[in-house]
Amino acid sequence: MSHSREPIGFAPPPIDEDTIMAVERVLRSGWITSGPELVAFESEVSDFLGVKWTCCLSSWTSACELTLRWFGIGPGDEVLIPAMTYAATANIVLHCGAKPVMVDVALDDRVASLEALQSAFSSRTKVVMPVDLGGWPVDYQGIADWLSSSEVRSVFQPTSQNQRELGRPLFLSDAAHSFGAIYRGEAVGNHADVTGFSFHAVKNLTTAEGGALAFNLPSQFKLADLQQWFKAMSLHGQTRNAHEKTVSGRWQYDVEEAGFKCNMTDIQAAIGRVQLAKYPAQLKRRRAVAERYDAGFQGQDWYASPPLHNSERTSSFHLFQMRIIGFKSEQRDAVMHALKERGIATNVHFIPLPLLSLHKDRGERLDRYPTTERLFNETLSLPIHLQLSDEDVDWIIAEVILAIESHL
Ligand SMILES: Cc1ncc(COP(=O)(O)O)c(C=O)c1O
Repeated sequence: MSHSREPIGFAPPPIDEDTIMAVERVLRSGWITSGPELVAFESEVSDFLGVKWTCCLSSWTSACELTLRWFGIGPGDEVLIPAMTYAATANIVLHCGAKPVMVDVALDDRVASLEALQSAFSSRTKVVMPVDLGGWPVDYQGIADWLSSSEVRSVFQPTSQNQRELGRPLFLSDAAHSFGAIYRGEAVGNHADVTGFSFHAVKNLTTAEGGALAFNLPSQFKLADLQQWFKAMSLHGQTRNAHEKTVSGRWQYDVEEAGFKCNMTDIQAAIGRVQLAKYPAQLKRRRAVAERYDAGFQGQDWYASPPLHNSERTSSFHLFQMRIIGFKSEQRDAVMHALKERGIATNVHFIPLPLLSLHKDRGERLDRYPTTERLFNETLSLPIHLQLSDEDVDWIIAEVILAIESHL
């Protein structure tokens, strides 16, 4: 490396002294698995989102798979997802024995449009699971209105009790990236039937590994029943967790269904609590970094902005996915290599699902999703995190311009 700067990481976790002290406090408390910290974290996340309850679990993957199972998803069912997403979105569908049906994404905002979802809809569609890519909210209102329409209801063929109760496909949002994003004045988490967030190590808010569900189901679904089912099923179906059993006279429990093991520990919850308290300020900083990048590339004729903010939606600024118009993936890879040599880590979100062997072997082909293919060629994710100073951002902009111009 021919530069004198410290290398710039892609998304280092925001672990500070307060976080370390919180973990130490829990480690010394005598209770390290699900307990009082988790109860407090769930209540603080709910307050932040403005929802009645959130269920924090071990990952987005376990939380959203549990949701598919709650809805009774199985063989013969189809779940609509975008082709441009991380493997997890499709994997949870396959785990349930159902079929992920992919749709293309839109060029301007990179998420699945209402029209794309509508054209893939069939009587086998049980769940619609779009992805807020990079933190940019999908058209929540449009999708919710469509799913509630008499046209969709009349085609829907329920096969489980919860499907019959809902009477239409479930709107499950893959909001792994969009914790803190805003749609029509409210936090993402208030619009889909169920919204799944990720607190994985590289996410804006991390618990090292972790995830959360926010519920916005119609009133026939009682919150107490949801709480009971999701909590029990995250602990082998056990009706009381280990901490609740410590209360005198409450040691007994029952198991009604073979549940999973995907609860969140108090250690994870403590990490999350410290970060959540700082999160509003962190979101502002992420936005400032994203806007500085965007302003720095304006005027370059090869540059197209990622969606950041409009009158209806505000990103969580999880990723800064710049688009280099007309680029091929080999050119993009060469730019990534050149930037790495200069000490700047970059990334690509994502390798489209149809390019992965798992999905190729299922008969998928990328050319069925032309915009996804184009975005894969043309997008590059730049570092966006709290350790970046304005000066770092300006330096990255200059290096990116140099690297791109020498690979045009
Ligand atoms: C779009 C998307 N969905 C789901 C996930 C899975 O999240 P988790 O690692 O918390 O299971 C990720 C993780 O990176 C993701 O990017």
